[in-house]
Amino acid sequence: MQKIVSLCKRRGFVFPGSEIYGGLTGTWDYGPLGSQLKKNLKDWWWEDMVSKRDNIVGVDAAIMMNPKAWEASGHLEAFCDPLVECKLCHLRFREDKPEEIKAHEKEHQKKDEIVEWTEAQKFNLLVKSYLGVVEGKQSEIFLRGEITNGVQVNFKNVLDSTRIKIPFGVAQMGKAFRNEITPGNFTFRSREFEQMEVQFYVKPDGEEAQKWFEYWKKDRMDWYIKLGINPEKLRFRDHADNERAHYAKAATDIEYYAPWGWDEFMGIHNRGDWDLSRHMKFSGQDMRYRDPETNEEYIPYDIETSAGVDRSLLFVLIDAYSEDGERTVLKLHPRLAPYKVAVFPLVANKPDLVEKARKVYQQLKEELFFVAWDDRGNIGKRYYSQDEISTPFCVTCDFQTLEDDTVTIRDRDTMRQERIKLAGLVKTLKEKIA
Ligand code: GAP
Repeated sequence: MQKIVSLCKRRGFVFPGSEIYGGLTGTWDYGPLGSQLKKNLKDWWWEDMVSKRDNIVGVDAAIMMNPKAWEASGHLEAFCDPLVECKLCHLRFREDKPEEIKAHEKEHQKKDEIVEWTEAQKFNLLVKSYLGVVEGKQSEIFLRGEITNGVQVNFKNVLDSTRIKIPFGVAQMGKAFRNEITPGNFTFRSREFEQMEVQFYVKPDGEEAQKWFEYWKKDRMDWYIKLGINPEKLRFRDHADNERAHYAKAATDIEYYAPWGWDEFMGIHNRGDWDLSRHMKFSGQDMRYRDPETNEEYIPYDIETSAGVDRSLLFVLIDAYSEDGERTVLKLHPRLAPYKVAVFPLVANKPDLVEKARKVYQQLKEELFFVAWDDRGNIGKRYYSQDEISTPFCVTCDFQTLEDDTVTIRDRDTMRQERIKLAGLVKTLKEKIA
């Protein structure tokens, strides 16, 4: 983890939030490469979930909502973690994270101290804020603790503005905020993070809901494998009755074998009719679906897939990190890699060679590739520098290029080089990246 955290900082993937002011616990800023990687991951998710399917549409709802929405969804009352406090040093922990409790007890044991804990109390994770322009008359609002509510309150709007029929899904990505008791493990548990979710509405029938629950479990597992993650480091884990969120009838996590052990990647939840029926009750609006063929009216069940963008990105990075002799390589899927290709002139002091390489660089940029340029130091170091940031292909213009219009392409993973005609470069790269 230390190596990944330091690579992320050094090469511009992830920086600590507000670092020049000493940071703000649980917040992270994505740098030039990290923001591109994040965009690539989200674009792939959107393409896989929305663009390629006929039965899922997207929304982008507001982060700030009428506080009644949070009362209705049960978050004001039940979006809580059990908090305990160490009576020796007053640090606070989650009672349901025994490994973190034990690690803290061990720290005290080293000083011959035995920890006593306070009774667990429910700690609400919603982050409060205030809106309004008159001092003293501002109204309390909550930053969304999960992005789900903006989809649920728009259920009727989506139905009325599209021709979509049950079973169908509504997808959304965006920021969520939680006052986590113990943010940690780099971006794994943050106080500000992004989620990518689909609320998939089905007939309110146990068997139908179970069928779709299993469908989404498999679909999401397959997607992570498609991203290139080692399948041996992925598994399902069903939630026990006492750990399920207040809205869930059933829940399964996809877990990844992280450097600190198996931990949650994303969740698939059967939310039943919890959200829509509560919004119907609290808003007084009819949230029922009318079946266009049978005219039957019902509140559908919601099978949710909910993934953290930051957590997915962290696990993708951990999984891609490898050390191979002298070089450090991030073996990200080419679709995820921030730069798809780097272009080098073999030497920097030959103006006609540099000019030729610049032309290749410009041509590739125009073909919508994200292209890096490097003309410093020796070629071996330039390759290693690109390996570390995951650039899958390096194109070098050398003296032969000036004679016969050929370049070499070097593959990040195999380190093999092939010489090809410049005329076929774009086509070859497109095929390799796809
Ligand atoms: N709408 C359902 C929901 O929010 P969740 O299990 O609380 O369910 C879903 O969160 C996913 O969001 C998690 O599996 C994880 O990937 C991500 N996530 C949750 N809390 C997070 C945090 N504090 N930091 C980073 N990611 C988080």
